[in-house]
Amino acid sequence: MKRLKVLVTGGAGYIGAHTTVELQKSGFEVVVVDNLSNSSEDVIDRIEKITGERPRFFKADCADLSAFSKVLEEVGEVDAAIHFAAFKAVGESVREPLMYYRNNLQSLINLLQILTSSAKAAIVFSSSCTVYGQPDKENLPVNENAPLKKAESPYGMTKQMCEDILEDTAKAFKDNLKVISLRYFNPIGAHDSALIGELPRGVPQNLLPFVTQTAIGKREQLNVFGNDYNTPDGSCIRDYIYVCDLAKAHVAAIKRMLYESEMMEGNIEYFNLGTGRGLSVLEVISEFEKATGVKIPYKIAPRREGDVEQVWADPSKANKILGWIAETPLDEVMKSAWLWEQRLASDS
Ligand code: NAD
Ligand code: WQD
Repeated sequence: MKRLKVLVTGGAGYIGAHTTVELQKSGFEVVVVDNLSNSSEDVIDRIEKITGERPRFFKADCADLSAFSKVLEEVGEVDAAIHFAAFKAVGESVREPLMYYRNNLQSLINLLQILTSSAKAAIVFSSSCTVYGQPDKENLPVNENAPLKKAESPYGMTKQMCEDILEDTAKAFKDNLKVISLRYFNPIGAHDSALIGELPRGVPQNLLPFVTQTAIGKREQLNVFGNDYNTPDGSCIRDYIYVCDLAKAHVAAIKRMLYESEMMEGNIEYFNLGTGRGLSVLEVISEFEKATGVKIPYKIAPRREGDVEQVWADPSKANKILGWIAETPLDEVMKSAWLWEQRLASDS
């Protein structure tokens, strides 16, 4: 039987690599397009080590229409695409807004332009809980119907604008385009082989990489940004989701568009991907310490500008409709992040 082919843009990146592994494990043929602006080709070797199959890889910039089109000409028709390719550093997006708008919008527009010219297209988009901003108290945990708030950063704006672009394009191509936008909460952890994981550049901005770098001694101590928020222990609350669980949701979304499209509500759907459990920064530290036995030195620091106080997901729509659940226990997730950090240290 012919294998179904999935195009994965940004497939050498953190979430893209884990998703490529899950797609291959589910029998899909994967084609990765990545310009390696935040990753390296070595990741493709590592995917091969895990699955025994090397995904086809093209180094190309999705924001460059002619380069991207050439790749698609060479690959031929794909059955579905997952669009991870984007810049994602919130602080950098404030300093370099045009770079973010250009890369994140143009790469999506190009993908849509290329795929809508085919008879049938199915696209999964990497969106983010950032589209909700700080939900009002009565909307916590946040579900897909909560109002979107003005984004705090150009990065967040690109996610909202990409969702608008997808909505309008889905409307215009009712007969040949299906879209699922997945709103990730906070992805953490690494594949249990410790062959792939998150590769933060410079000083990590995200909490878990900072925790693991502190644990290994690369950072002296962790700054907890604020303990005077209106939360039970005063630190901010998020929904931390294991990257391998997240990867599996993409497989479920692809299957829905390819095999159950008649069950879709229209031709564009949105799903929150989270655990449904909010954890404070201080709880993250203690859960990491419990899981690994390693103490994290930390101090309370001032609030970080632009931080949302608390947000966690109501994932029941994804649980019910995609038949997906974030199932991995937190201690395993923490251990995977720690193993990955140790692996990085031993490689360097
Ligand atoms: P990542 O930086 O590890 O992966 C993105 C990949 O895309 C990288 O390999 C990069 O080289 C590539 N890329 C960027 N621009 C490109 C372009 N124009 N052409 C080709 N390749 C390009 O990031 P990630 O954490 O894996 O995130 C993947 C997606 O998920 C992004 O769209 C991000 O905005 C979204 N997302 C991430 C998080 C998170 O916390 N990690 C949360 C919500 C949403
Ligand atoms: C989590 C909590 C910090 C570092 C960002 C993006 C968002 C999404 C996910 C892509 C916060 C606290 C952090 C540190 C700390 N990405 N913290 N000390 O802010 O929820 O979201 O990544 O779409 O768009 O904004 O994640 O990991 O940066 O922070 O106390 O050294 O940890 O204040 O409360 P965040 P994060």
